[in-house]
Amino acid sequence: MAPRAAQAMITAAAALLLIGQAMRHRPLELRRQLREVDAPAVGALEPAASAVAPAAARRSSPPPANRPPPPLPPPAPRPPSELALRSAADPSCNPTPHAGFSGGSLNWGMSFHVGTAQECCDACKAHARVCGAPGAGGRVYLNRSWEGKVSAERCAKTMTSNELGTHAAQACNVFVFCPTPPSAGGLCWSNDVWNHSSGECWLKSQAAPQRPHAGAFGAYPDAYRKKHRTAPEKVQWMSGALHPGPVTVDGPHWHW
Ligand SMILES: *[C@@H]1O[C@H](CO)[C@@H](O)[C@H](O)[C@H]1NC(C)=O
Ligand SMILES: *[C@@H]1O[C@H](CO)[C@@H](O)[C@H](O)[C@H]1NC(C)=O
Repeated sequence: MAPRAAQAMITAAAALLLIGQAMRHRPLELRRQLREVDAPAVGALEPAASAVAPAAARRSSPPPANRPPPPLPPPAPRPPSELALRSAADPSCNPTPHAGFSGGSLNWGMSFHVGTAQECCDACKAHARVCGAPGAGGRVYLNRSWEGKVSAERCAKTMTSNELGTHAAQACNVFVFCPTPPSAGGLCWSNDVWNHSSGECWLKSQAAPQRPHAGAFGAYPDAYRKKHRTAPEKVQWMSGALHPGPVTVDGPHWHW
């Protein structure tokens, strides 16, 4: 081959090589440009600040991953459960969940139903107001509404039950209420022969309502539940005491 022809071939080959490289590089360059255009600028989600910020400032701000997460919106308030609504009472009632306060009964709770712990506490307050006076026996202290029927509740002359060894009727200062909604069975277990039902309100009297004695309080012990097979895990009753300040429960004193 003549040197000139060889020279031409080398030149052509070199030209082809260069074209090939150019073709390979052009799409790459194009892709890089496209990436830069498509990628959201740092801070693009904060239009007011980044729109006016110079490009240099935008580059120097930290990448989104390193920023603290935006504050979470406050959680939507959950509506209180039916049990919570029934168990609620104002602070002067000292509502105490999972508690069965002791004391002689001033009424027969199994036929004394009210809708909420607040109503039971109000019944206790009405009893104390009217029945605490001497000679109040037989006086109406409450017109109690239950299932569309109004019952005139009267002060007892003597204690209905006699747990504290006195027969004299006293002013109510503690109460025991069954808050279990019908959807949860509607019963409150007690260590007796009765089926106590939702809404039962027992008015009682204790010597020291600021330290109410509780025959049942909290969770039944394992051994107690072995003996009383129908007992639930926790006391289903709630109780309260009429006292202006907080109270300290004395108990539980289980009736085995
Ligand atoms: C109960 O109702 C009767 C009859 O409506 C009324 O005379 C009496 O004052 C009421 N008693 C109480 C304590 O609300
Ligand atoms: C209590 O309820 C149970 C189950 O429904 C029933 O077998 C029992 O006779 C009821 N006891 C009383 C005293 O009503």
